[in-house]
Amino acid sequence: MARRKRPLFARWYPDAAAQLEERGLADRRRRLLAPLSGRVLELGCGFGANFPHYPDAVTELVAVEPEEHFRDLARARADELGLKAAIVEGTAEALPVESASFDAVVATAVLCSVDDQAAALAEIKRVLKPGGALVGFEHVGSAGRARHTAERVLDAVLWTHLNGGCHLSRDTLGAIRAAGFDTADVREERFPYLPFPVSKSPHIVGSARKPA
Ligand SMILES: C[S@@+](CC[C@H](N)C(=O)[O-])C[C@H]1O[C@@H](n2cnc3c(N)ncnc32)[C@H](O)[C@@H]1O
Repeated sequence: MARRKRPLFARWYPDAAAQLEERGLADRRRRLLAPLSGRVLELGCGFGANFPHYPDAVTELVAVEPEEHFRDLARARADELGLKAAIVEGTAEALPVESASFDAVVATAVLCSVDDQAAALAEIKRVLKPGGALVGFEHVGSAGRARHTAERVLDAVLWTHLNGGCHLSRDTLGAIRAAGFDTADVREERFPYLPFPVSKSPHIVGSARKPA
């Protein structure tokens, strides 16, 4: 099934998100991406918020983004930074790249929004080299039953439609484990940078490894 386009989200999100970078999100991105090296694939790069934080040890960056307006902004950002990046149209569920060809796949606040998490994770695993890592952060569903029910209701009636397909209620860590990744280096972390209600959600951060 073709992914629904979300051009309105791509129009309003960049200005809203820019303030979050100044609240500490930029620094969190920098610390997350600092250990990367080699060939890196970024999923759902949006307007390129991660681009300033890739270390020189990253030799090649390919960014896959389904929304045209985001791709235009990301290209402008890469040019401004003098960053060599191939920014291509595509979705996480059907990555337009070869199998076992990347040292790391970066996804920050993307697995909350993909249409099919299991398909996206299978694709991420396919394109990673053995021992390669999925690196990123995500807000995830709450453990408490009442809160989780509220998140599911909010997703169904309002949240997902207004926020580019984002879900508050997903068990993303469970999905990453079910896809066969080693999650020893994924932590839960307080993530105060994002706006309410995602600032109150649990967050996961780190690297999930494809077995060697
Ligand atoms: C909340 S934004 C995050 C943008 C960026 N990763 C960041 O950290 O600022 C979600 C991003 O995921 C992208 N996205 C949504 N569905 C996707 C899919 N199926 N495959 C790849 N990217 C997707 C959106 O277009 C958007 O760029």
